[in-house]
Amino acid sequence: MFAKRTQEVEPFLAMEVMERGMAMARAGTPIVQLGVGEPNFDAPPAAVQAAVDSLVSGETHYTDSRGLFTLREAIAQDCEKRRGVAVDPDQVVVTSGTSPAILLCLNLLVDPGDEVILATPHYPCYPNMIAVCGGKPILVPTSPQDGFVMDVAKVRDAITSRTRAIFLASPANPTGAVQPKEVVEELSDLGIPILSDEIYDGLTYDGATVTSPLCFTENCYVLDGFSKRYAMTGFRLGYLIAPEIAMLPLQSLMQSFFISTSQFVQQAGISALARGAEHVEHMRRQYAIRRRILVDGLRDMGLSIPIDPPGAFYVLVDMRHFERDSLPLCFDILDKAHVALGPGRDFGEAAEGFVRFSFATSREEIEEGLRRLARALPEL
Ligand SMILES: Cc1ncc(COP(=O)(O)O)c(C=O)c1O
Repeated sequence: MFAKRTQEVEPFLAMEVMERGMAMARAGTPIVQLGVGEPNFDAPPAAVQAAVDSLVSGETHYTDSRGLFTLREAIAQDCEKRRGVAVDPDQVVVTSGTSPAILLCLNLLVDPGDEVILATPHYPCYPNMIAVCGGKPILVPTSPQDGFVMDVAKVRDAITSRTRAIFLASPANPTGAVQPKEVVEELSDLGIPILSDEIYDGLTYDGATVTSPLCFTENCYVLDGFSKRYAMTGFRLGYLIAPEIAMLPLQSLMQSFFISTSQFVQQAGISALARGAEHVEHMRRQYAIRRRILVDGLRDMGLSIPIDPPGAFYVLVDMRHFERDSLPLCFDILDKAHVALGPGRDFGEAAEGFVRFSFATSREEIEEGLRRLARALPEL
């Protein structure tokens, strides 16, 4: 009855754990939610005010499909500031979140039967979106012992005549890995378009720095947005930066799929870029404290975290010694410890037996989650 490609889309299991947790909470059992990757911070006040002002002044219309020129100009300047690479505002397309930016790029590059290489563990939506475009995800494993750094030789071996793109996510969900500069440079030199998901850039710790392939190749599509760095998930605001040659087809896809991004939300983006830096730095410092508490707390319980995650707000913990699949394990933890976590299976087979903890929630919740887990551990 429904198109075959819908069967390729896997459900998001972290949501199932979260939703069962919410049902338990409604029935009177308070649950600590450490499973989802949503900042608990408010959006930058200046961004909220800009959206309100924009709505009140009647900015409720379509814009240029690529986005307001002022926002594209601000994004280009922000990119130049962070990357040291000059970008033309006409290389920017503003989208309703990073997710549509990913979908636009895959529709641009992937024909049925084409292949897209990505590291695993991986963000669950990548293979789903590749499959919906008729493409084949080609998974290249990474391991916790190596800090989930991509092995360029393995990527090279995975390239075939059907390879259309390589995903790079740095910092990554769910591993928090930041790819070293040499790896980014070598991947950029492979002659295949790089889809560089930079949504967690700015959220790095212990001096880790993010390198964009934009510094090495023009054959690169930067996928980015305001959800994580600016805690603006519900605004739905993202963008992509693409080679000039791709702009016309991308614009046509944007016009047909989405027409344009909300005007008042784009105004919020302009304000976030102009006045949000202090707020972003405040959040980053808080994440750094929460990360220390979470990583140290989990290690104190004897759980294995080979390398402190250098970026994003996740810790992927190896729980294979429990000898159970990650989904039943997460349900068991929910039942016994009243803590909701993200089953590793969401992030590909390489993450089965692992569990993702998020430190995007408050310090108090993290501390309470650790206490509950420590108490329940002998029972698991
Ligand atoms: C790696 C990665 N890319 C993209 C997204 C989607 O973000 P957005 O809210 O901008 O659509 C997420 C959300 O969790 C993510 O973790």
